[in-house]
Amino acid sequence: MDLLIKGARVIDCDKDCISDVYIENGIIQEIGPNIQKNCPIIKAEGFILLPSFIDMHSHFREPGFEYKEDLLTGSLAALKGGYTAVNLMANTRPVCSSLSVADYVLNRAKEIGLIDVHQSISITNGFDGKSIAHLDSLDIRVKVISDDGNGVENNKVMLEAMLKAAEKDLIVMSHAEDREISKYDTRLSENISTARDIELAEKADVRLHMAHVSTKEALQYIIEGKKKGIRVTCEVTPHHIALDDKTEYTVNPPLRTEEDVEFLIKGIKDGWVDVIATDHAPHSALDKEKKAPGISGLETAFSVCLTKLVKEGHISLNRLSELMSKNPAELMGLNKGQVKEGYDGDLVLVDIEKMYEIDSSGFLSKGKNTPFNKAKVWGIIETTIKAGEVMYSREEINYDN
Ligand code: DOR
Ligand code: ZN
Repeated sequence: MDLLIKGARVIDCDKDCISDVYIENGIIQEIGPNIQKNCPIIKAEGFILLPSFIDMHSHFREPGFEYKEDLLTGSLAALKGGYTAVNLMANTRPVCSSLSVADYVLNRAKEIGLIDVHQSISITNGFDGKSIAHLDSLDIRVKVISDDGNGVENNKVMLEAMLKAAEKDLIVMSHAEDREISKYDTRLSENISTARDIELAEKADVRLHMAHVSTKEALQYIIEGKKKGIRVTCEVTPHHIALDDKTEYTVNPPLRTEEDVEFLIKGIKDGWVDVIATDHAPHSALDKEKKAPGISGLETAFSVCLTKLVKEGHISLNRLSELMSKNPAELMGLNKGQVKEGYDGDLVLVDIEKMYEIDSSGFLSKGKNTPFNKAKVWGIIETTIKAGEVMYSREEINYDN
């Protein structure tokens, strides 16, 4: 698709200028003043144009738990939140331990055709915590392996999985939890699992990505690992930086103390945190009553982060764009995440001066589970563009031309 976006303030990881952006055949062709083209034109004066967001950590629940979310509603929620690419976790039913389950998801997502979907494969077969022979059959369709939702508790199993992942250059995404220890202390559980994974990753020389880091100590281990040159990256979620344990809401890992939140934000400021990922975890109202952990996060992530990180003066919009677009794209090997010639024309128009009240009843996700309902936040997603095509718009667009 061809599209010309005129007059927006264009921001990405290192750009901040008023400019026109022209997308031809889905790819960004030209960025500059006064571009004239004979194609649909969006007048975007007063809005900010960012690369669309990329979520390295989402749960769309298909196959098996479609009553919580499916690939269509998950895709719609993503677009409404400004995302055009997601990486899905394997805790479906069946667990995604094979290319055939992954293919089902990828084909269905293609049929729906709204966003780019990547599917992770479980580290252990069916989350059994011990078998990893299925990893031998993986091919380039797979970029990430993860037992997210569970941790891999056995040290030797994790080491051997990492050695296989290193051979295939896969990212091992770790949900740092030892559930036996969690019964006593969820903080200790996250901390020792993080330290262990970094030690093992050094040995295996693998790309290790720590999911939803929530404690000061865990981030400290990651910082030390990075300083030593170990290939470890990490993500934090919007809820772990916007809320602390004074909010009662079940999520895994749990909401932590104010001191943890401050340390995570400092880690973001100082460049140690690589990615903001949603851990979008939609649940039904009944499951939530039974304390299923998780937050339906795709539709609020940008506003929550803008409000907490940018409006409170911790980081710039450039840095937020790096965390939500450039870095996840680079880690996943996608040609996205920056407003640059030759990159995919996946962009999002936002109004950062607009404050609104979050209303979970209006979510496109089936999961209405959020602690942010009724919160007043800055920054609404106006339009999400994928490969030069408008896939979501809050208000009807009047194209010029
Ligand atoms: O809060 C969470 N929910 N954390 C996880 O690790 C899993 C997720 C889910 O699948 O519901
Ligand atoms: Zn997890």
